[in-house]
Amino acid sequence: MNKLLIGNIEINNNIFLAPMAGLTGCPLRRLAKQGGAGLVYTEMISAKALVYGDKKTKKLLTILNEERPVAAQIFGGDSYSMSEAAKIVQDLGADILDINLGCPVRKIAKIGAGAKLLENEGLISKILESVVKNVKIPVTIKIRTGFLPKQNIAPRIIEIAQNCGIKMVVVHARPTSQRHSIAPDLNAFTQSCDGAKIPIIGNGGIVNEKTALEFLKVPNCAGIMIGRGAIGNYSIFRRLKEFFKTGKKGFLPTQKEKIKWLKQHVIYSTEFYGEKKGLMLMRKVAHYYIKNIPNATKIRGEVNSMTTLKDFSNLLNILR
Ligand SMILES: Cc1cc2nc3c(=O)[nH]c(=O)nc-3n(C[C@H](O)[C@H](O)[C@H](O)COP(=O)(O)O)c2cc1C
Repeated sequence: MNKLLIGNIEINNNIFLAPMAGLTGCPLRRLAKQGGAGLVYTEMISAKALVYGDKKTKKLLTILNEERPVAAQIFGGDSYSMSEAAKIVQDLGADILDINLGCPVRKIAKIGAGAKLLENEGLISKILESVVKNVKIPVTIKIRTGFLPKQNIAPRIIEIAQNCGIKMVVVHARPTSQRHSIAPDLNAFTQSCDGAKIPIIGNGGIVNEKTALEFLKVPNCAGIMIGRGAIGNYSIFRRLKEFFKTGKKGFLPTQKEKIKWLKQHVIYSTEFYGEKKGLMLMRKVAHYYIKNIPNATKIRGEVNSMTTLKDFSNLLNILR
């Protein structure tokens, strides 16, 4: 796979882990990195909360050396808090600063942030310019193709981003009306890459060699980003790298391997957040590990009621 230069940061390979709120904390990022991800992202972080000095929000920016390079993603709807937050992110040691211009969730739209900003080109320019001016680390953005199917505003946003000094754009090739379902709009993605002067990364529905290739064969596509398809399937990064190098498909992870990752995830999570919170956070993610095994619903129920590591060891005995 190709190396990639984002500003002055060299990325070893062009297959990235997507930012996912509530999921891509330090524990999951470590696993993705071990699976071969070229770049991993924090979940989106509130610019305002960072500027107010909120401790819990700052903790989202704890980065271990083994995860690097890491892109920290922020969201917000005004240039003051975004540029101040960018400086905080830089000072806390993120390698790259990413701006969320794609989240359609109501809570985010209400403050004029995420995909809501795509409606206001003037404000986008103001925010991007002020953020780029305030930090030395490379600044990137993650966007959608628009609000409705068949719409494609990505080429226009990419043009604005380039003019503001943005170093890379990730295009989640679905409109906001579709959240994370439906097949990606590869035509819209092709138009986004056409003539772009900065690296464009494709995202949406990548789960295997075929879906990865659909993006990577688009002329000028600089790389891909994987979200849900990577959880509990961390070797997907290495498998894809191998496939694009040799043309050979690797083995899919066995259930035993998935359980091993689940165990490791629990260990990292409880180390990082403490036993109670670490286990509680596993509720959001455990179903990705167990979805295809017999009794998945019952096991999910057990995961949801775990409060101690002892409960988790008992569960592992059932899964074995
Ligand atoms: C639970 C969840 C949380 C997400 N949180 C974020 C986020 O914080 N920032 C962001 O830019 N995208 C977020 N996304 C979108 C993903 O980054 C990605 O664009 C989307 O899942 C499509 O990729 P996929 O089909 O490979 O999962 C989230 C998606 C999911 C499923």
